Amino acid sequence: MGSLDGRVVLITGAGRGIGREEALFFAAEGAKVVVNDPGVAIDGSGGDAGVAGAVVEEIVARGGQAVANTDSVADWRGAQRMVDAALRTYGDLHVVVNNATIERNRALVDLNEEEFDDVIAVKLKGTFSVTRWAARHWRERFEAGIRVDRAVINTSSGSGLLNPLPTQASYAAGNAGVAAMTIIGALELGRYGVRVNCISPSMARTRLTLEVPGMGEEPPADGFDPLHPSTSAPIAAYLATAACPLTGQVLSVRGGSVAVNHGWSRGGHVHKDGRWTVGELAAQLPEVPMDDPFGKLADALGSALGRTGHARIQEMINALLDQGAHSG
Ligand SMILES: NC(=O)c1ccc[n+]([C@@H]2O[C@H](COP(=O)([O-])OP(=O)(O)OC[C@H]3O[C@@H](n4cnc5c(N)ncnc54)[C@H](O)[C@@H]3O)[C@@H](O)[C@H]2O)c1
Repeated sequence: MGSLDGRVVLITGAGRGIGREEALFFAAEGAKVVVNDPGVAIDGSGGDAGVAGAVVEEIVARGGQAVANTDSVADWRGAQRMVDAALRTYGDLHVVVNNATIERNRALVDLNEEEFDDVIAVKLKGTFSVTRWAARHWRERFEAGIRVDRAVINTSSGSGLLNPLPTQASYAAGNAGVAAMTIIGALELGRYGVRVNCISPSMARTRLTLEVPGMGEEPPADGFDPLHPSTSAPIAAYLATAACPLTGQVLSVRGGSVAVNHGWSRGGHVHKDGRWTVGELAAQLPEVPMDDPFGKLADALGSALGRTGHARIQEMINALLDQGAHSG
């Protein structure tokens, strides 16, 4: 008996990295999996139909059930086709895991329109499109009297939630949008029996993170590998189980730690019974305790932010921004 016996699951970007591990794990837990992946490069260029096919072969070789789909989540009709692939092959769809991403990291001042749009098209609009086509089917089934637990599991990133990183204006904006859309989805789709949650993996060894210091090192020969891309698969699988009560949650996953995020929250405030003048605001607002974006980045990097720490963080940002500057 697997925890996902009988569940039909569509996983986007399931040909590599975290999505591939989710596909293997879900199938081992008894799910029938639509493995979506056009097999593109990190920047979204090219394509290789064999990437999704290889994961399907691996699942089938282990005795599981899976089918490949190579549409792009950035293509509105492609998103519909991958939902249809589940319905056509397995007769229903219970779970969507929105995992696909690309990255085009560059200084905001150098980022061009196409680079910005392409990342948003996959990460943010892709999450919307696949969810929307699945939700159409779920509403129809619900109105036909069929009551089954359905689930969406979105994928966000610390870059977008806790520590937006320099050079990631589009990627961070997309990921922050995915977290916001998770809450909207939970509020709107609950009436059709659909739960919507989000995982935010961190420091998983995939092609996206190989250049992060420490990530390229050899994994431990045995025992738990906290950087392995499979660490978030059981958390996604739990959210996919029919008995899971969670909805509207964004969970950060790092190695063996799973944290509930509380999102943006109101901090200190100033108040006046009437409209402010600019001068009054200038006198009072800077006195309210505020987050320092440099401090947040320093925390994320595990360093203290004294005066010299601040200079070090600025140097690091400058070095990142100067890569590929003035091009495009
Ligand atoms: N690796 C990490 O540490 C980390 C950290 C934070 C968040 N994430 C998130 O986890 C998810 C998976 O990342 P990963 O590290 O496994 O990346 P990855 O590059 O290894 O895998 C992403 C997959 O998505 C596919 N893809 C790209 N564009 C697509 C499209 N238009 N339609 C369908 N599939 C498409 C790619 O072909 C690729 O196989 C992403 O949403 C990413 O933002 C990862």
